[in-house]
Amino acid sequence: MSGQDQVLLTSARDATPATADRLPPPDRLPDERRLSSLVASGARVQPQLRAIARRLAVFHEQGETSPEIARAGGLAALRALWLEGLVGVEPFRDLLDGEVVDEIGRLALRYLDGRAALFTERQRAGRIRDGHGDLLADDVFCLDDGLRILDGLEFDRRLRVGDVLGDVAFFAMDLERLGQPGAARYFLDAYREFSGETHPASLEHLYLAYRAFVRAKVAGIRDHQGEPGAADAARELAALALRHLRRGRIRLVLVGGLPGTGKSTLSQGLADGADGWVRIGSDAVRKGLAGLAAEQSAADAFGAGLYGPQPTEATYSELVRRARTALERGESVVLDASWTSGAHRRLAAQLATETDADLVELCCVAPPEVAAARIARRAAVGGDASDATIAVHAAMAARNDPWPTAHEVPTTGPAGDALRAACALVA
Ligand SMILES: Nc1ncnc2c1ncn2[C@@H]1O[C@H](COP(=O)(O)OP(=O)(O)OP(=O)(O)O)[C@@H](O)[C@H]1O
Ligand SMILES: [Mg+2]
Repeated sequence: MSGQDQVLLTSARDATPATADRLPPPDRLPDERRLSSLVASGARVQPQLRAIARRLAVFHEQGETSPEIARAGGLAALRALWLEGLVGVEPFRDLLDGEVVDEIGRLALRYLDGRAALFTERQRAGRIRDGHGDLLADDVFCLDDGLRILDGLEFDRRLRVGDVLGDVAFFAMDLERLGQPGAARYFLDAYREFSGETHPASLEHLYLAYRAFVRAKVAGIRDHQGEPGAADAARELAALALRHLRRGRIRLVLVGGLPGTGKSTLSQGLADGADGWVRIGSDAVRKGLAGLAAEQSAADAFGAGLYGPQPTEATYSELVRRARTALERGESVVLDASWTSGAHRRLAAQLATETDADLVELCCVAPPEVAAARIARRAAVGGDASDATIAVHAAMAARNDPWPTAHEVPTTGPAGDALRAACALVA
């Protein structure tokens, strides 16, 4: 690390008296240069956020880890932490709104319960470390000659030890609390870049929610002590926690419907949303199982060849198998297939139950002549994974099991309209 913009995240581990001496005492650091003040005023702080993210990534790389430390990132420890938090906010139920507290508890525990594989992976990857535990925008000063970070390393080891993402989220949530979610996003992305992290977006939401929730409790305590403004802060923090938990819910979205009704278009749009969901399409899976590339034609009559009963069973089993892996690792999944058979939908519903995921069933609908025109246009262009023809559309329409649990998404209008409708249904 360079000497001039120190002492970031060093005091407990490797600060030398020399670096500590160079720091002016905190009371001589100008308040208006606090990162918190700059962020709250909307000033441009990207370079500083990048620098902090880089330092934090290095700091975590050097942080201690061991089997004992890794336990703090496991399912049991996280459950205990949330339950402890939920008990801790009981005195503030009325202040925070009982319904909000209950939903926070329900969503957090549901997320944890289905994500055992994700937590095991984080442990195996060495992402559970002795970290910082208390990195706040208030403790960072942006001076002319660089950054100064007052190293308020948490002294209680139990509160420092955990997933490195907990540290990152601690700081990111502080930026959000200051009204700058864009800065929080920028910081999270920069950390991801410097650390080479590959976590699902949902895990960020979980840790952001946890920090907001803990701080809501602390604000509740301050309110009980009579601090003005603390009640509003507590409610805002609880709302922030709930927003993240809602966004981080794990969804299994089935996008079904007849050929040419816009399933692939809609599922790609859903998968390309802010949190980057996983899209798995039956066409690519079916051909992959047969050793074909997705865009290679396997066109055949309805129910024949690669579209016969056996390859179709194998395709849906594989879709569900791949979806399970992703859901257990905290990725929301969009499954693009016809879903015309009730038996296949039941497989998916069972998967959602087993992985504590929210099942959302969407059925794309367009009049046959619209679908036919689109299929014809698509065939003229070429390059699509779908082999469906107008004849296949007609044959499938005749043997489509009723799908009462699905929300119909009309796709006759512009693709953006269908996507907006679908986004509202999965939100
Ligand atoms: N809402 C829409 N408005 C206009 N064009 C659309 C819309 N949705 C899809 N399309 C176009 O219609 C064609 C068929 O759509 P898409 O490939 O998404 O259908 P599909 O349901 O996946 O079909 P298949 O079952 O054959 O895979 C594509 O060329 C796509 O660009
Ligand atoms: Mg398609």
